[in-house]
Amino acid sequence: STAIAADIELAKKSHIEKILQSGKLRVGFESGYMPFEMTNTKGDFVGFDIDMAKEMAKAMGVEFVPVNTAWDGIIPALLTDKFDIIMSGMTVTQDRNLKVLFADPYIIVGQTLIVNPDMAPEVKSYRDLNDPKYIVTSKLGTTGEQAVKRSIPKCTYKSFETEQEAVLEVLNGKAHAFVYDLPYCVVFMAQQGSDAGLNFIDEPFTYEPLAWAINKGDPDFLNWLNNFLRQLKNDGRYDMIYNKWITS
Ligand code: ARG
Repeated sequence: STAIAADIELAKKSHIEKILQSGKLRVGFESGYMPFEMTNTKGDFVGFDIDMAKEMAKAMGVEFVPVNTAWDGIIPALLTDKFDIIMSGMTVTQDRNLKVLFADPYIIVGQTLIVNPDMAPEVKSYRDLNDPKYIVTSKLGTTGEQAVKRSIPKCTYKSFETEQEAVLEVLNGKAHAFVYDLPYCVVFMAQQGSDAGLNFIDEPFTYEPLAWAINKGDPDFLNWLNNFLRQLKNDGRYDMIYNKWITS
């Protein structure tokens, strides 16, 4: 029937049409992942991903609509159209890539360690933590958690809802080490200052490209994103945003 034909036509359309028609780019992320998405004292979302999202909305001629979403449910929320794109420091993993499309990576990071030196002065690498006597923390559903389970399988792992809770456990002397993405740990260490006396083992032990994620079956949107990213990276805007948020 013509109704079915119309449905098929609509289904074939890129999600880009929906964004342009609504005049809104709804961006999904979970605030708290420094320096990519954070909430400032005024309650505004700020950070590396947020600045890129604003540039993206500008390039499409639409309004930027932030959608703060719990990390644990961020892929299901994309799949059920709660927003148009995930821009949330998400590592491209083969498992996630079975469910979503990833644009080209915008930065490469890896897992690093923040160690409490009073509790574990002997720890110099993640390998030294592979013993049940060590309590290691990270965040639920992240590649930090995966890295602990894969690379430090014998440690006593404690999972937290937020990266902040996980790292404070080490600062407060309740866990030996925190495993997380390099940029987050760099910002946390800078905030604490040398007085905190934490030991930062900043040589990444995993390879993690971060990329924006969209729903599968949409090559038009993916093509737009990759060309937008190339433009951003080469016309100075990426460097400006990078230098604003990433130190060292
Ligand atoms: N890169 C890590 C991952 O993909 C952590 C990202 C956490 N992002 C966030 N907005 N909380 O698992």
